[in-house]
Amino acid sequence: MKQFIVSPLKHPIKATISVPADKSISHRSIIFGGISNGRTEIKNLLASEDCLSTLKIMQQLGVEVNIFNNYESVTVYGKGLRSFIEPKNILNCGNSGTTIRLITGLLSAQNFLSVLTGDDSLLNRPMGRVVEPLTLMGAKVYGREHNTKAPIVITPGVLHGITYEMPVSSAQVKSAIMLAALYAKGETKIVEKEKSRDHTERMLTAFGAKITQDKNEIVIGSEQSLEAQSIQVPSDISSAAFFMAAGSIVPGSEVIIPKVLVNPTRSGIITVLKKMGVKVELTNKKDISGEPIADLFITTPSELLATEVKGSTIPLLIDEIPILCIVMAQANGKSIIKDAKELRFKESDRIKTMVTVLRKLGVEVNELDDGLEINGLNGEPFKIDTKIEWPKHFDHRIAMSVAIAALKCTEPVNVPGSEWISTSFPSFEKIISKLQVAVV
Ligand code: S3P
Repeated sequence: MKQFIVSPLKHPIKATISVPADKSISHRSIIFGGISNGRTEIKNLLASEDCLSTLKIMQQLGVEVNIFNNYESVTVYGKGLRSFIEPKNILNCGNSGTTIRLITGLLSAQNFLSVLTGDDSLLNRPMGRVVEPLTLMGAKVYGREHNTKAPIVITPGVLHGITYEMPVSSAQVKSAIMLAALYAKGETKIVEKEKSRDHTERMLTAFGAKITQDKNEIVIGSEQSLEAQSIQVPSDISSAAFFMAAGSIVPGSEVIIPKVLVNPTRSGIITVLKKMGVKVELTNKKDISGEPIADLFITTPSELLATEVKGSTIPLLIDEIPILCIVMAQANGKSIIKDAKELRFKESDRIKTMVTVLRKLGVEVNELDDGLEINGLNGEPFKIDTKIEWPKHFDHRIAMSVAIAALKCTEPVNVPGSEWISTSFPSFEKIISKLQVAVV
């Protein structure tokens, strides 16, 4: 088992911290490049395990990919929507839900057999949510446990457009349907109750797809063709959130995080931290490759206020909830997260894992079916409860949340599950080690 020990900080964080490229946008740039006509150049791709699973699968489907200067620039040569070759082997999506769900949508429209699998965590995640709408479109997609779990098997199908009301807010499911819709006969309409991240809508439009949007309704034209683009991937707000949190809980800190994606469907964490009293300033705002970015400047507040997060805010910060729990655990009073049952279907059951993590950190917490109630320590450091075990199932965002909590703990913490961190944030441990030694 890997050792990653994080000691409490005795000094404020006064640092500019660059975080890696956005995971959602990186996956999409590889996939969309692979089905468009021409050479897509991707600058600042996230070369994490999850995105490399997507890249390898595109290569297995016959797409030419060139990597320059250790992923500084990646070129993807697409030959159009119908250029894939039947893969010789099973496609392994590793730990990545985005890979398996988007690629399932894409492969449901191909005229060959394909099989998708992943690690133990992915094999336990719900796949019925993609199988169901794709089947309604005429796809032949099958899975274990009555078509609800991976491995997924896809055989050729002829697709037609549908109108689909999303039962859960999920950008992965929405994107799988949108990818299949590019190949379908007739228009496809998707209706979301609550808006999920809209990178697919933005990027497919930039690649020339015919997509119209009206509030929470998306209409995708039939039998489309895409043109290659140049894409610059912004820094991931989901990775930035860990250092926004560190700046919120380590007294006297001033943290700058440059060029962060601030797309409104992703920036719920900024709104909530501000509500809790954290000063978050956005400067140098601009657009890159159709996405808004800004430099973030975070200053620790004199008091962190407890808050409630629910309803349509949840999809806007779904991946940031584990680290938000750590900030809430430092607040003055009881914070509540509800309407977040989706957390139970992530890389781990993030409600259950965070309840155990918080208890281990000496925080009083109540588990709800769809969230958590957290009694904040009002700035008192976390204190490890030796009687409580760390959770059995860890994932990258839980491990990084523990590492950030360790910066404000009474003793050093050997961060459990740290081997997962490289699925999204390969440079995380290096940044933490730098913060440990001095004011940087
Ligand atoms: C993602 C969508 C979200 C998010 C995941 C990435 C995407 O999942 O949690 O980390 O890139 O589309 P859901 O679509 O299941 O909500």
